[in-house]
Amino acid sequence: MFILTGNYGEKIGKELQSMLDIRLVQPTIKKFPDGELYVRVNEKVMDDIAIIVNNAFNGESILETSFLINAIDKMGVKKIITVIPYLGYTRQDKKFLEGEAISSEVIAKFLSMNNSEIFIVEPHSNNIEKYFSCKVNFISPAEEIAKNYANKIDMVISPDKGGIERAKVIASLLGVDYSYLNKKRISSYEVAMDLNNVSVKGKRVLLVDDVISTGGTILKALELLKNDGASEVHVVCTHGLFLNNSDINISQNSTSLSCTNTLNTKYSRISISPLIAKQLEKFIEN
Ligand code: R5P
Repeated sequence: MFILTGNYGEKIGKELQSMLDIRLVQPTIKKFPDGELYVRVNEKVMDDIAIIVNNAFNGESILETSFLINAIDKMGVKKIITVIPYLGYTRQDKKFLEGEAISSEVIAKFLSMNNSEIFIVEPHSNNIEKYFSCKVNFISPAEEIAKNYANKIDMVISPDKGGIERAKVIASLLGVDYSYLNKKRISSYEVAMDLNNVSVKGKRVLLVDDVISTGGTILKALELLKNDGASEVHVVCTHGLFLNNSDINISQNSTSLSCTNTLNTKYSRISISPLIAKQLEKFIEN
């Protein structure tokens, strides 16, 4: 058994390799002058079980992960397991408007090819499971997130109804109340939001989301919670993309900002590698 990582999974891949104490294989990845991607695994790996660890959220990382799977499959390995800490395109999991592509379906088909099993850390929607033609396991970071806020929080809040389950699980681990705000997306950058009758006066709030992309959602929620008199608002998300330096604005307007290490940022203080390792150990034992 060995771990194979690409440019989008190196850090977590190395952590998993040392936790599981198995071999780490690093491929050659380069680009041709026209921008086309080239992947080669130049170590002997026949008759082995491969664990590929790589994010797949933009064009390049999705291609890289698929090429790694293809390269290893052509080398005749016994089985391929893929760990995707951050899978993108999970928000377009259905047609919201007639004529739209279901992006999640396309990506899932692409990544299922030649895979025995895929592990994904908290995709935006669990609905995507049906699009995979191999076994899929979702890993929730709730346990690791909750550990960081024990005895520091009075209430967990999701900025939208879609995230209520996430808030509920973390709140129950912390033994506190939870709720959600009313959010309506106006454009990719803009959201309208109201407090949904939630009262946070004098409370220490944990504001939790799956992804922070432009930061529009979290910044709006922070404004509402602070205006309502929250004494502290800690922001945490699983996948911190922080586009357009939105992390700066969020940090300035919150008590703290943290995310997991599915993406490598200076706020990636919560490591979900132990949770992934635990799942892989179960798989190895079986
Ligand atoms: C959407 O429903 C997600 O859970 C996040 O709230 C959203 O993707 C965050 O995006 P942004 O940071 O651009 O507002």
